[in-house]
Amino acid sequence: LIVNASEGSGRQIPETLFGIFFEEINHAGAGGIWAELVSNRGFEAGGQSTPSNIDPWSIIGNESSIILSTDRSSCFDRNKVALRMEVLCDTKGPKLCPAGGVGVYNPGYWGMNIEEGKSYKVVLHIRSLEDVDISVSLASKNGSQILATSNIVASSSDVSNWTKVEVMLEAKETDHYGRLQLTTTSKGVIWFDQVSAMPVDTYKGLGFRKELVEMLANIKPRFIRFPGGCFVEGEWLRNAFRWKESVGPWEERPGHFGDVWMYWTDDGLGYFEFLQLAEDLGALPIWVINNGISHLLRLLAEICLSCSSLMQEMLDSIEFARGDADSTWGSVRAAMGHPEPFNLKYVAIGNEDCGKKNYRGNYLKFYHALKHAYPDIKIISNCDGSSRKLDHPADMYDFHIYTSANNMFSMAHQFDHTSRTGPKAFVSEYAVTGNDAGTGSFLAALAEAGFLIGLEKNSDVIDMASYAPLFMNDNDRRWKPDAIIFNSWQQYGTPSYWMQKFFAESSGATLLNSLLQSNSSTSSLIASAITWQNSEDNSNYLRIKIVNFGSNPVRLNISVDGLTLNSIDFSASTKTVLTANNLMDENSFKEPNKVVPLQTQFDNAGEQMDVTLPPHSFTSLDLLG
Ligand code: AHR
Repeated sequence: LIVNASEGSGRQIPETLFGIFFEEINHAGAGGIWAELVSNRGFEAGGQSTPSNIDPWSIIGNESSIILSTDRSSCFDRNKVALRMEVLCDTKGPKLCPAGGVGVYNPGYWGMNIEEGKSYKVVLHIRSLEDVDISVSLASKNGSQILATSNIVASSSDVSNWTKVEVMLEAKETDHYGRLQLTTTSKGVIWFDQVSAMPVDTYKGLGFRKELVEMLANIKPRFIRFPGGCFVEGEWLRNAFRWKESVGPWEERPGHFGDVWMYWTDDGLGYFEFLQLAEDLGALPIWVINNGISHLLRLLAEICLSCSSLMQEMLDSIEFARGDADSTWGSVRAAMGHPEPFNLKYVAIGNEDCGKKNYRGNYLKFYHALKHAYPDIKIISNCDGSSRKLDHPADMYDFHIYTSANNMFSMAHQFDHTSRTGPKAFVSEYAVTGNDAGTGSFLAALAEAGFLIGLEKNSDVIDMASYAPLFMNDNDRRWKPDAIIFNSWQQYGTPSYWMQKFFAESSGATLLNSLLQSNSSTSSLIASAITWQNSEDNSNYLRIKIVNFGSNPVRLNISVDGLTLNSIDFSASTKTVLTANNLMDENSFKEPNKVVPLQTQFDNAGEQMDVTLPPHSFTSLDLLG
């Protein structure tokens, strides 16, 4: 491998190259990065009409002691369903309540992670025409142990109208699969609505589950594309994500059933929170809007014909993100605690809709409306421009690839022959899928690494790339593989997650010219070289990354031309290798570090270096300058 490191010889990789794509799939958001512990907090998941299914809320008590029903008496206009709890027992008799009382519990998303010493804020809305004494408790999985509790005692005059109550609970013990309980031993009727339980300790205090977002921060994403994916489209348009219903006070959000991935979300993670997450991560938000075409496009009615209301929704969404705090929608954002505008510069019109009837027509309407109102916004088309020129205006085009490991490795050359002029590519979804991937194999990660090296080398025509899907709650696998797997309290990265760490420093780095000189084994090799500056200590690095996709070890001589020898600290140079005993090796909750990169000191650093690349391996050499 010959690397040209002489001054001024490289080219800058776009600052934006590597980022993340967040989709509400696999309970990535609801029951995932959004730290809300209660599922179905407004009792609307069964629909807006009553009687409504209140799942996963369940009864504590039996038919003779308590009657649960739903009615439409809530004080919140967009979500009228409330829970009516009629208690037939008390402590005096004739019907005695069981010890601990009767009521309801919510197990959250397959159990709430309640940890000793940690604080939880519970907020609920109650109404009653009688005096109330309600225990608000965090309890163990089966309710047998109370981990934290507090009582709401109020006279009928205090709660005869809907009243918001906040309770802080500190857990005295740990149960990773706990639940929230609302119980009483007083006869009478109590209505409940909009019940929330949040851990106080969240990422930057803004409501995101800390350990999960820290995993994102570790791969230094330069952008975040959200909120889908097919989730944006809805199987039917009526079930698509509608941003206006996801902003404002959480209690007032109606929630919706995402019919592509088939689950309810309370939309606690709404448009505002996505923008906030982007800001927290220092990543550019990339907002995917619905262009009036549903996922399956089952009926003509599933295409908006004039699209004027959806176009207005799109324009309003930009005003929400960027408008002055006294503009119509900017003021809603400001009221949510963010008077400064968000840095929204990219909008994708639709998701995977290019082949669908009416896409071009709809796209052009949305494109012109958006360009007219916000000329600086970069607009992303769904149509692939990598092998043929686009027939419509766009600043970027979307490219998705899910394929086998061999195909993915050879796709490293997909953009070698793309026209060097015209819109740039956004590879917003890539992953090895199918048998080669299992639920997150080393083989998949290796092929993806080869693909990403190809993207780096073609980054004169590619602006952005992100893996998909990002998250998977182990209790609701809708898609495999994924980058980060979690349950209520644990998480680990698949090899594809760890692979992305090798590219964390590439965005904005300088790509050096490098040439793999051919012999029989080089078709299974791909390599790139970058220089980059570590912002923490301002030191300069030369990084050479090589994928050996073949089944034999390769002895590689690396020659770095133009390397300023006296500026290199050879003793601080490292070699990081990602490999596995078996190609299909995966990480798991039991063995989260089975396939992770291993870093050692690299003693051979110099102008001429000999390295042995293990069979099926990814190697990164970092020379500190
Ligand atoms: O990443 C999972 C899905 O794959 C996305 O929702 C969609 O865009 C693609 O088909």
